[in-house]
This record gives sequence, C-alpha cells and structure tokens, in this order.
Amino acid sequence: MERKNLNIGLFGFGCVGYGLYEVLHKTPSLNAQISKICVKNKGKQRPISADNFTFDKDDILLNEDINVVVELIDDADAAFEIVTAAIKSGKAVVSANKKMIAEHFEELLLLQQQYGVPLLYEAACCASIPIIRNLEEYYDNDLLESVEGIVNGSTNYILTKTFAENLSYANALQQAQEKGYAESNPILDTGGFDAKYKLQILLAHAFGIKTIPADIFNYGIDNIGELELKYAKEKGLKIKLVAQAFKTADNKVAAFVLPKFVSNTNKLYQVDDVFNGVITKTCFADTQFFVGKGAGAYPTASAVISDISALSYDYKYEYKKLQQQQGLELDNNVLLNVFLRHKKEEALVLTTYFDSIEESYLNNEQGYISGVISLKNLQKITNTYGANTSVILHDAVLNYELGENENAPAFTNTAAVY
Ligand code: HSE
Repeated sequence: MERKNLNIGLFGFGCVGYGLYEVLHKTPSLNAQISKICVKNKGKQRPISADNFTFDKDDILLNEDINVVVELIDDADAAFEIVTAAIKSGKAVVSANKKMIAEHFEELLLLQQQYGVPLLYEAACCASIPIIRNLEEYYDNDLLESVEGIVNGSTNYILTKTFAENLSYANALQQAQEKGYAESNPILDTGGFDAKYKLQILLAHAFGIKTIPADIFNYGIDNIGELELKYAKEKGLKIKLVAQAFKTADNKVAAFVLPKFVSNTNKLYQVDDVFNGVITKTCFADTQFFVGKGAGAYPTASAVISDISALSYDYKYEYKKLQQQQGLELDNNVLLNVFLRHKKEEALVLTTYFDSIEESYLNNEQGYISGVISLKNLQKITNTYGANTSVILHDAVLNYELGENENAPAFTNTAAVY
C-alpha cells in the first residue's frame, strides 16, 4: 500500500510539540513534514527558527496544502475549536487532548462521520502504550470483561517518590512538573480527572459506552496522608491511582477512578515512576498486561508519530464496539471494598454508610474504617466529608452486584497502632 504524503500543521510547541518535532526528524521513513507551527505566546524564545511559526490559526486551517492537523495544546476549549475547524475543512486530525476528547466525545464522533475525516488520539491515553488501537483492532471479537490500569504518569511518579523515597508531596509534584509530566493545572492529575478522561476513552473503545465526565466518579491522591502510607507499608502494599471498568453480573459496566492498595501479586505493583500499566481481561485470553511510559515528551510524541504514520495509510477508528451495539450501559450500582480514613469525631456517622465493616481503628485525632460500601454511598461521603477523609480501594474489587457478597475477600483483623 502506498503511503500518502502528509503535510502537517502543528498547533502547540510545548514539551510534546517540540518532542514531536525532534522525533519526526529522526523518523525519515515517514513521508511527513511539519509545514507550519501555530503558537500563542509571541514573546517566547523557541529552539528553532522563527519562520516555522505563525500566531494565526488560519495560516494552517485555511492552507489547502496542509492535509493533517496535529493538535498538542493544553487548553481543551481552544483545542476543540481548532479540531472542529480542521475536520470541517477536511483535514485529518491527530490530538493528544484527553480532556477535549472526553468532554466532546459524541460531537467529535458525529463530526468524523459527517465530514468523513479521521481523528486519531492514541497519545491521549497512556502516552506510549498503544492501548486504543489494540482495543479497536485486537479486542475486536474476544469479549472484554474488564480494563484496569494506572493511566496517569504524574500521580504514579508522585506516589512512587513519596512512598519509596520519602520525598514530600510538594517536591514530587514539582519534579513531575519539571519533567513535563503534569498538566498545566496539576489538579487535573492529582484529582484523578485526567485518569477519568482516559477511562472515558477506554470505555468507548473497550465497551462502546459513550460518557461525559460527570458520569464517572473520580477520586485522586490529594488527600492521602501518613496513616494510609503507614498502613500500606506495614502490610507490604503500594498505593496506586487506578482507573477501572468492569462488567457486572447483569451485563452492565461499572467504572471509576480511585487510589488502590496493590499487593505484590498485582501486576500494577511493579509499575512505578512515570510508567502506566493496563490490564485487560477477556473471556478467552484471560488477562493481558500492557506497560510503558505514560507521560513525557518522547513517549507521547511516539504515539503521535504512530497516529501520523497510520494516517499515511488512511487508517481511521471504526469505533467497532459502538457499531457492534452490545447495548452495554454504565452502572454505578456496585459495592466496593475500601479503606476510609476520617476525623475522630466523624467515626460514628461514617459507619452508617457502610454495608459491612471488617476493621476499624481510632486514635485521639483520626481513625479508619475498612469495609464494604456502595459506590453511591462513597460518593455521598466524599461530597459531604471530603476534606477530612481519604479513600483507598482494597486490592480485591468486589466485582459483584449489590447484595451478592459471595466473592467478598477475607479480611484479617490486624488493627495496628497508628
Ligand atoms: N499529565 C498526564 C499524565 C500527561 O501525567 O499522565 C499524559 O497524559
């Protein structure tokens, strides 16, 4: 098959944009070149000559010689405007903007259909891990039961550094920012929002479920405190921010983002630093595990390059799971096995939210409850008592419906002194 010549208009020249520029120059096999780069900040010094740049988006969008727009800016609203205009003018688009894709999934789907133009976004989900294309192409027939993973590099970096190297949270976050892992607004990372956007993309390609951000519960790592760290260390566990989606007993799909205690028998235990890891489980193949760098200039640029390469062969997502219309719906009616750290005086009221309690502990200031709770009640607690609490999922997710507890993991009542 002959490769198309690709004339690229690039939006954004930050960490990933410059990474792409460099990687593209080291990939001569690609029949692709960057014709123009549109940037916002006129005063900024840039490492390549000024004639590569424009400050007017129409220099790309109205340029008929440019047939591919690569959008690598971090403003999701401006990105949506650019991507929409590019698709409407018949240009193929590559984007790494998970927030934009998650917020406008349905509109972007319709635009692609309406204008017959591909939009590829492998870099938007787990950077260097080719998870979207695998979900689209490889998991075409074998029915997926679950997708679970560490999908945010910054939080994994922070958790690794604070946990294993005793770095302060602020220092670890600063390092993640300096290394170009974190979002401009790092709350998107630490609050689990970025992981949620990626989970939404995974849900569409794994299960054919279209969502908006408000559909999915996300809880980040900001509240993790000493008590949880000590609890984890004493039990030989690590804490990871995990996004997960799994089929429930009545063929619905539960999905959420929560920090999770992982033991050394969990594949995610070894996924440290800026790495991401995704575990898929299917009916026939059982589990498979993908791992790779989840943020940073070159790992992200590698996925963008792969999309550009795919465009040169006219590849587009067929959204096979959406087409297959399996009729799967999102379902938040599940029970979770969690650790909840709380203020001492809120212990009593918080117990009333739990279905069952396996272990609890209290000292002069705070305590924790470990037990089974519905996702809905957990949401109520985080809405009402959020600032005073910290929630961490136990390793065994209760993959069963409300009221069916036969898979509940056995707990040991080993209340230590914290
Ligand atoms: N801030 C994101 C992360 C960048 O840390 O994973 C890659 O999507």
